[in-house]
Amino acid sequence: MENSSLVSINALTKDEIVSLLEDAKYFEEHPNHRFLAGKVVATLFFEPSTRTRLSFETAVNRLGGRVIGFSDASTTSSSKGESLKDTIKMVSNYVDLIIMRHHLEGAACYAAEVSPVPIINAGDGANQHPSQTLLDLYSIYKTQGRLNNLNITLVGDLKYGRTVHSLIMAMWHFNPTFNFVASEELKMPNEYKEFCEEHGIKYNEVTDFSEDVINNTDIIYMTRVQRERFTDLMEYERVKNLYTLHNAMLENSRENLRILHPLPRVNEISYDVDENPKAYYFNQAKNGLFARQAIICKVLGIKINKEAK
Ligand code: CP
Repeated sequence: MENSSLVSINALTKDEIVSLLEDAKYFEEHPNHRFLAGKVVATLFFEPSTRTRLSFETAVNRLGGRVIGFSDASTTSSSKGESLKDTIKMVSNYVDLIIMRHHLEGAACYAAEVSPVPIINAGDGANQHPSQTLLDLYSIYKTQGRLNNLNITLVGDLKYGRTVHSLIMAMWHFNPTFNFVASEELKMPNEYKEFCEEHGIKYNEVTDFSEDVINNTDIIYMTRVQRERFTDLMEYERVKNLYTLHNAMLENSRENLRILHPLPRVNEISYDVDENPKAYYFNQAKNGLFARQAIICKVLGIKINKEAK
């Protein structure tokens, strides 16, 4: 990372990613510490969240720090017209670290430019969700025993889904092959396909979520159609239920296949998949706590003494 903020997954080197995953493993084994004793962290969520906010706040609590913040921007002075710049400058007077989610792409990058304390991007519009990517990588590593040479199938809203955008950019270090399964309206934007081409990442783009695709993949990453990003709700209605994974579709899938989803799900994964041992999305969300403990320590420059239990 060029500075201590984490606004984009691209800012992390391969070594930094691997080191963060090792730290996440350490925190999974030893979740309670006092690394943040005396520190205060702000969680500023201008957009709704369940997992990201609560796992970040749990991470701070388990590290011995304290949390201030909001989960509903309508209760703050931004509803009176206060700018993001002024909000960030004010909050940075009170805390050691700001974790923020915002509907505008680039908001976290802008906040990092004006903030004297580090910023962690907890999702900025359809752009990036780097902490989600680290927990996704941790989940992939835990379930596959490796990150290299995997076949990963991304399904659903590849246009607006920030988690898949960040995941592609992080996986380029590990020689993946991607299947992009989406309708014409929600296909992977050109900038990410160009990124793949420039970085030698192999990908296939299809509209059919076929048996052939499912049976030849190591990871299926389902995504929710992002209703909140549509300007035309009629279009949302047309595309919202195009891809649903049912248990019967997994009958001939690989033994090592695991199904991921950043959650929340709407209709993308049928409830009959939940009992299948290949379903991993709830464990994936749990891994978010450990990955976020590792990220917080990294951006605050806290060296983890792994000998201390
Ligand atoms: N995966 C994720 O970002 O979930 P939340 O929107 O609940 O934080």
